Amino acid sequence: KHRYVDYEYQPDLAVACHGSTSKHGRRFPDDFLFGTATAAYQVEGAWNKDGKGENIWDHMTHTNPTVIRDQSNGDIAADSYHNYKRDIEMMRELGLDAYRFSMSWTRILPTGMANEVNPAGIEFYNHFINEMLKYNITPLVTLYHWDMPQKLQELGGLANPLFTGWFEDYARVVFENFGDRVKMFITFNEPREICYQGYGADLKAPILNSTAVGTYLCAKNLVMAHARAYHLYDKEFRATQGGQCGITISVNWFGPVTDSAEDAVAAEIKKQGEWGLYAHPIFSTEGGFPKELSQKIAEKSAAQGYRRSRLPEFTEEEKAFVRGASDFFGVNHYTAKLISATKFKKPVPVPSFLDDMDVGEFIPDRWMAAASEWLKLAPNSLYNALTYLKEKYNNPVFYITENGWSTFKDRGLHDYDRIIYYRASMESVLKCLDDGVNLKGYMAWSLMDNFEWMQGYVERFGLYQVDFSDPARTRTPRKSAFVYKHIVKHRYVDY
Ligand code: NOJ
Repeated sequence: KHRYVDYEYQPDLAVACHGSTSKHGRRFPDDFLFGTATAAYQVEGAWNKDGKGENIWDHMTHTNPTVIRDQSNGDIAADSYHNYKRDIEMMRELGLDAYRFSMSWTRILPTGMANEVNPAGIEFYNHFINEMLKYNITPLVTLYHWDMPQKLQELGGLANPLFTGWFEDYARVVFENFGDRVKMFITFNEPREICYQGYGADLKAPILNSTAVGTYLCAKNLVMAHARAYHLYDKEFRATQGGQCGITISVNWFGPVTDSAEDAVAAEIKKQGEWGLYAHPIFSTEGGFPKELSQKIAEKSAAQGYRRSRLPEFTEEEKAFVRGASDFFGVNHYTAKLISATKFKKPVPVPSFLDDMDVGEFIPDRWMAAASEWLKLAPNSLYNALTYLKEKYNNPVFYITENGWSTFKDRGLHDYDRIIYYRASMESVLKCLDDGVNLKGYMAWSLMDNFEWMQGYVERFGLYQVDFSDPARTRTPRKSAFVYKHIVKHRYVDY
């Protein structure tokens, strides 16, 4: 009865293959920040060198290696700890304005607590930052990219409300030591992946798989921890250091599969469940968790026999503390799914976070597929996501803090699908700028191949290939690196 939304027409893909529409003056502004991104555990290696403490990824991969697809780990990874000068040389080869990387909490504070600071950890990041600044590359520093100190995990990690204090203490050490030179701080990378995949499911460390209670407990504590770090920066460091502090949320696009009213409602609740849970408390004017979602979870909890909602609500005071607590909205965007009100899969017996949203989802076969099972080139998805966020949250300052494409490990240097993907993304970015989205920069994931979490080294996201069989971890640019370099240099997409 309902018409399918016309996803068949793929203007981005057409443009990517047949030539850019940006020729007629649609260029990137000169001050648009182009960069690439990585994360400590995925690239650094040196997992126990110079006083670094154990984190949950060290712990999980060492005690439970079979959870990783190729039974690998990040012990050495791309060995950026020793190769950081080469990494910066690559940034210069690409002509980057910026580089987003994360700091390893246990390299700085081996037990996670701030009573004991590791001088070698501070020294490593000092050298790294100073070398980048020598070449005018702006550092964007993520404080938490998934590598929870193991000692803190043993105390419950993000499920413990005291986490907010431990995180604030760590943030203070980072601001005090690096804030004179680092002007962009990102507190957390991808709360949804941390909370749902790590606490609600078994898809990331610490693989707690503790049903939807874990997801939501983590969600509230994480948002509170973010707000505490933000207010700390705002009150005690901003005046002297003059930088910015924000958060990065994964925002994939969830479009309705047909033009029916039911599917529109389903796509909306899916957005709220996937990223509204984290974005709404911070970026909306009303604050707190999204209302329809809270209501739905409360009703479901009651029907399931819980005596209270599985979602721990914010108090009014907490809502006010969190609302507006971010200088920018970091967006990690990769792909899209189509959403329907009708479920295709049977509900699982244990109440799960995915079940709470009660929607069907699917990915059309015709979308070009990456190596990662979840990653397809979804037409216009980046444009759809950003323009939606613009309307929803009153156009805050946005940075795309990740966007990228995976190929399998044996692909080598000829990554034409990655080139198609990046060009499509660039078209979306230009359209966003045309539409007045307050978008200030774009970081490609990733500068180089790295440890892709549960997928180990099977899936590769690098503009540079890394040879993991070579002790020197030699880096070689792929075709896509030359394309990205060209775009960055000319601030222009051609073909
Ligand atoms: C997002 C995560 O932040 C990053 O760590 C990961 O490697 C990429 N997505 C690709 O899956």
